[in-house]
Amino acid sequence: MTPADTLQADLLPEIEAAPSLDSLEAIRVHALGKSGSVTALLKSLGKATPEERQTLGPAYNALRETVTAAIAARRATLDAAALTAKLAAERQDMTLPVHAAARGRIHPVSQVLDELTEIFADMGFAVATGPEIEDEWHNFSALNIPEDHPARAMHDTFYFPTQFAGEGGRKLLRTHTSPVQIRTMLSQKPPIRIIAPGRVYRADSDATHTPMFHQIEALVIDRGLHMGHLKWTIETFLKAFFESESIDLRFFPSFFPFTEPSADVQVGYAIENGVLKIGGKGSWLEVMGAGMVHPRVLEACGLDPDEWQGFAFGTGVDRLAMLKYGITDLRAMFDGDARWLDHYGFDPQSVPTLSGGVGA
Ligand code: DAH
Repeated sequence: MTPADTLQADLLPEIEAAPSLDSLEAIRVHALGKSGSVTALLKSLGKATPEERQTLGPAYNALRETVTAAIAARRATLDAAALTAKLAAERQDMTLPVHAAARGRIHPVSQVLDELTEIFADMGFAVATGPEIEDEWHNFSALNIPEDHPARAMHDTFYFPTQFAGEGGRKLLRTHTSPVQIRTMLSQKPPIRIIAPGRVYRADSDATHTPMFHQIEALVIDRGLHMGHLKWTIETFLKAFFESESIDLRFFPSFFPFTEPSADVQVGYAIENGVLKIGGKGSWLEVMGAGMVHPRVLEACGLDPDEWQGFAFGTGVDRLAMLKYGITDLRAMFDGDARWLDHYGFDPQSVPTLSGGVGA
């Protein structure tokens, strides 16, 4: 055996058996480093005769290549093993089942808001919004409710401390969605067709009142509008919402400072098996306030009442939801009880559409 053969016979099994990348590196330094064994053989060529070099040269170079290749092969194996170990350690089991049934339901108020938006969008209404922190001017004065008007006291308003008062008077939590009428008329030119759904606040709490509840407002401003337009719009809306053609409506004279004339809209209902059913006959339930926009309200928004007319209505969204879906307790709606939501909530996958049924 030549010295090259002996060295190769020693080195290859050692490389093959190297247990780690560190030990492999140590072997490489011992063999191929500056004072390594293979390097020493190659250096010894300098002292060999030209004839010896002819045979030893290729042999030693072949040894170096074989050892280099063996080290590279072993390194690749150790790298792969390290990667496999790392992947195994960081493994995430994605196959575990989550929950048997999907959790999470759409709250009836959200559902009804979606239904209302769908119905009114079909009639060409846009959705308008306004701030929940309002001022006296938008919430009352511009709506023809002057400071000494009893309606102000009737609203059980949450006022902010006077230090926050500004140009529009004291700040307050809006008591109705009607101030969005004002904001819309001030920021858009007529014709206007909007609905304004949102939260409103009143200092009132019992079985049928919560300090926060939801209203939806509708406002139409155009030329030549009259009560007939108002009546048709409300009728079309209520039939679509309660998903019934056979709904009886009554318009009763009423009073709101911001409409003239004003009306209470009542729908016919009956109690069937202890459950209130809209569309039945015999009893009447008040569902909304409505009327022709008062000329003073138009004027407060810079519109000439001789040129422009408007009609408006407003109603409670929570109440509509209760009537449509047989919910009996208003307060339970805002308790955040998951069992209640499981029972009354809606499937997040089924979105209200006019073709598929708004309450489907
Ligand atoms: N804002 C009234 C309330 O909260 C409801 C209402 C009545 C709105 C008549 C209207 C309307 O737009 O025309 O009691």
